[in-house]
Amino acid sequence: MSLISSKGRPLLGSIEVPGDKSISHRALILGALAIGKTKITGLLEGEDVIATAVAMRQLGAIIEPGQKDGFRNWTVIGRGVGGLSEPEQILNMGNSGTAARLLLGLLATHSFETTMIGDKSLSSRPMERVMAPLRDIGCNFISRSGGKLPITTIGTINALPSDLTLKIPSAQIKSALLLAGLNSPGITRIIEKNPSRDHTEKMLKYFGAEIDVIINDDGSREILLKGYPELEGKNLNIPGDISSAAFLIVAAVITPGSDLTLKNIGINPLRVGLLDSLREMGANITIHNVKNSINEPSADIHVVHSPLNGVVIPSSRAPMMIDEYPILSIAASVAEGETSFEGIGELRVKESDRLKAISEGLEVCGIKTHTTKTSLRIFGRGSPPSGNGLVHSYLDHRIAMSFLILGLVSDNPIKIDDESSIKTSFPNFITLMNSLGGEIRPASK
Ligand code: S3P
Repeated sequence: MSLISSKGRPLLGSIEVPGDKSISHRALILGALAIGKTKITGLLEGEDVIATAVAMRQLGAIIEPGQKDGFRNWTVIGRGVGGLSEPEQILNMGNSGTAARLLLGLLATHSFETTMIGDKSLSSRPMERVMAPLRDIGCNFISRSGGKLPITTIGTINALPSDLTLKIPSAQIKSALLLAGLNSPGITRIIEKNPSRDHTEKMLKYFGAEIDVIINDDGSREILLKGYPELEGKNLNIPGDISSAAFLIVAAVITPGSDLTLKNIGINPLRVGLLDSLREMGANITIHNVKNSINEPSADIHVVHSPLNGVVIPSSRAPMMIDEYPILSIAASVAEGETSFEGIGELRVKESDRLKAISEGLEVCGIKTHTTKTSLRIFGRGSPPSGNGLVHSYLDHRIAMSFLILGLVSDNPIKIDDESSIKTSFPNFITLMNSLGGEIRPASK
C-alpha cells in the first residue's frame, strides 16, 4: 500500500518504541542454545525477529509467546550448544540480513544440511562475506547464485576455530563467526579495527560463555571466545531500539514546537553515533535515567526542536550509526548548509542500495545531493523542502519511514510507494506517529 505524509503537529509527551531488533535476534538464538528456560520481555515482534523465532523452532528449540501481568513475554527452551537438529523444511529469513547471516554462522558448525531463502531484497544481498570465513573453518555451502540466497549450508562438527581480522566492520560477520565458534574446539579469535555493535559479545557473557574483549594499543578490539561453553537460560528485558527511536528523535528535532521523551532506549556506546551527529548539527538532545540490564545500558532520551547546521560525518563513525543514515539524511535536508557522509559504501548492500534510495528520494522532494560510490553530500537550505514527490522505498523499512518523517515538515505532502517493509522492524510506526500528531494516511490512487 502507498502512504502519504503531510504536515503534522509538534511531537509532545513521552513514548516507548519496540524492543531492540539486534538484541531480540540474539536473545532468541542464545536462548535456543542455552540449557533450560529463557524468559524475554520487550522482544521486538517485527517480521525480522519472528523469522528468527520460526527458524530456531525449526531447528528444535521451543519458543512461545505469552502474557504476564498484562505484559507480553516470550519463553525459549533451549537445546544446549551443539544440540540443534536438522530442520525438515527450508528456513525462510524474509527480509532479515541479520537473521540470515547469524544463522549461516550458527549452522556452519552443526553437522547437517540446511537450505535458507529470503525475500527479493534479501536474495540480492551479499552472503559471501560470511561464507568465506566459514569455509575457512571447514563448512561448505551450495549457492547457485554467486553467494546470494538461496544457500544450502553443509555444516561440520570438525570445525577449526576462526582466527581472523575483519576486513569489513560488520557485527553480522563477527556474530556469525562467534556463533560458529560456540560449537568449535579451542578459542575463536576475531579482531576488529573499526568496532561494530557488540551485543553478541555482551549477551554471550550474560548467558555464561567464556568470552574476553581486549582493547589493543592501536584501538582495535580483540575478541576471544572459548568453544563448547555451557550456556544457561536467563531472564532478559530488552530495551527500546535506538534505530527505531531514531525516526522519532529526528521527527522531534525538525518539527517546530516539539518536546519529546523516548523512554528506556538502548544506548550501547557502539550504537549512538546518530546522537553524536545530531548534537554536532545543533540538536538539543539529553540523556536521563541511565540503567543497566543484560549488560546493556539504556536511558530516556529527551529531544527538543532545534535548528540544524550541516556537518561532515566521518567514515570512522559509520559502524556506530550504520542504520541511521537514511533518517540522518532527512535531518540534513532541513539543515542549513552542506552535510557530507563519508565512507558509507556499506549502505549500498543494506535492505536496498540506500545511497541511491536516499539521494533519489531527496531529489524527488526538492533537495540537491551528490553521490559517489562511497559518499553522499546533501545540500540543505535551512528550511523544509518542497516535498510533493513519490518516493520509492525499494522494500526498505528505513527508507520508507525516513521519507514519511520528511513529509511531516515539507511544504507539500510526500508519498511513498509501499509501506509493507515497515513491519519488519517497527510494526506500530504509523499508529505511533499519528498518535503523536502525525498525518500519515493511505494514499488515494
Ligand atoms: C546488525 C548489524 C548491522 C546493521 C543491521 C543489524 C546486527 O549490519 O546494519 O541492521 O544486528 O548485527 P552490519 O554489521 O553487517 O553492518
